[in-house]
Amino acid sequence: MKAAIFRKEHFNAAHRLYLPQWSDAQNYAVFGLCSNPRYHGHNYELEVKLVGEVNPQTGILMDLKDLKKIISEKILLEFDHKNLNEEVAEFAQMNPTAENIAYVIWHRLRPCISTEIELWVRLYETPRNFVEYWGE
Ligand code: NI
Repeated sequence: MKAAIFRKEHFNAAHRLYLPQWSDAQNYAVFGLCSNPRYHGHNYELEVKLVGEVNPQTGILMDLKDLKKIISEKILLEFDHKNLNEEVAEFAQMNPTAENIAYVIWHRLRPCISTEIELWVRLYETPRNFVEYWGE
């Protein structure tokens, strides 16, 4: 029997979307308000989805307590109330768009979860704007 389990989490973080080789005007044209040189914040909602075989004896795919702990240690501790550009190593060279944040979250979680289990990351930057990344 195959099933999906989900864990929802939340973090607040500041970012600035820009390419350093572009002028402020070019950055504004492409990234809009998110290019503000003085940064701004989002209330990010994170959904982590695991897909895999349910253990026929226990009825469990993966213990959600363990998943909660992994997300807390690998993501929330390092992203919550942080400036993503300046305080999260991956974004020193990578624009912290929702796409790239989901990519970084996926790569941080992947080594902590059984290879038998598929991992999907969905990240809401606003209640209406969200992205998904699944490792391709
Ligand atoms: Ni933004």
